[in-house]
Amino acid sequence: MTLNIGVIGTGAIGREHIRRCSQVLQHARVVALNDINRNNCEQVISELGLQAEIYDNAHDLIAAPEVQAILVTSWGPTHEEFVLAAIKAGKAVFCEKPLAVTAQGCMNIVEAEIAAGKKMVQVGFMRPYDSGYRALKAVIDGGTLGEPLMLHCAHRNPAVGDAYTTDMAITDTLIHELDVLRWLLNDDYVSAQVIYPRKTRHASSHLKDPQIVLLETAKGIRIDVEIFVNCAYGYDIQCEVVGESGIARLPEPMSVQTRHAAQLSTGILTDWKKRFIAAYDVELQDFINNVLSGNMTGPSAWDGYAAAVAADACVAAQNNGDIVPITMPPRPAFYC
Ligand code: NAI
Repeated sequence: MTLNIGVIGTGAIGREHIRRCSQVLQHARVVALNDINRNNCEQVISELGLQAEIYDNAHDLIAAPEVQAILVTSWGPTHEEFVLAAIKAGKAVFCEKPLAVTAQGCMNIVEAEIAAGKKMVQVGFMRPYDSGYRALKAVIDGGTLGEPLMLHCAHRNPAVGDAYTTDMAITDTLIHELDVLRWLLNDDYVSAQVIYPRKTRHASSHLKDPQIVLLETAKGIRIDVEIFVNCAYGYDIQCEVVGESGIARLPEPMSVQTRHAAQLSTGILTDWKKRFIAAYDVELQDFINNVLSGNMTGPSAWDGYAAAVAADACVAAQNNGDIVPITMPPRPAFYC
């Protein structure tokens, strides 16, 4: 069986996902494209030699009879409209993060999906598909370390452009930790606080960098996440779980160790795209397989909502310096 996919938004990650669906993954083909910039679609078609129809209107693509599932990889503020339209059309939809730019927008999608009576939405949170995080979760769930008590995490980029603002440390960067740590611990957040260490001279004048986000979970686990997006040395994701009787760390990406010129060294990645490249493949293959089998198991609209609620609290905490409560309504049975 082959799943016919229509893609809305053929920019950076859209192209990557189209390449995956066309050249790497199984049981899928991209049959339709839409972008507000038609040239982008034409370029992708010629670069990848695709046999795909270009639609000038995203809603026509969603309605097209040959399109069985939708990938939404356009800009964040457009996601809610397209995901709601896909649900209305009864078509499965993979939506890159964020599911919507507000928690209310995510809730609108949750309510539409529940009303439709079947799971159709997967959010593009790829870290739960990363082999390192999966291995770390297996150790935690195995119980040998006892209950997790504390997590020490870091999300570091070598540098960001001038357009990167202080709140993007939450909405663009921390958002991945907000999703994956909930999944890792099978827990929800109850409060957030943000503190600002001494500022690096590598950051733009308007940007507070680094930042430390302190989260507390319903089970009482304390999490500190260092966000340092001008760290200068590499793209580095760290996660250390302190349990009652031991510690587990996220494995480092595989890298050859060299002995040379009196130095023992291993490389550190600098490009974020490379760090989770395999996870992107696995998450999209999972979406394709799940749509074909009729059983959606990936990061759900509820997970998208939970990340948005936590992100809103973190942004408030950035601005007021307080410990901000994070209040989640009970998880609907539909998502249990
Ligand atoms: P981009 O700017 O390279 O591409 C976005 C494309 O969407 C552009 O070609 C633009 O013309 C098109 N577009 C915008 N509004 C549209 C509309 N109304 N209808 C149709 N097309 C429209 O951006 P990029 O980096 O590809 O990001 C896209 C989304 O993917 C963002 O939400 C971003 O947060 C997310 N993303 C997720 C990543 C992850 O790690 N999961 C990594 C990179 C991006």
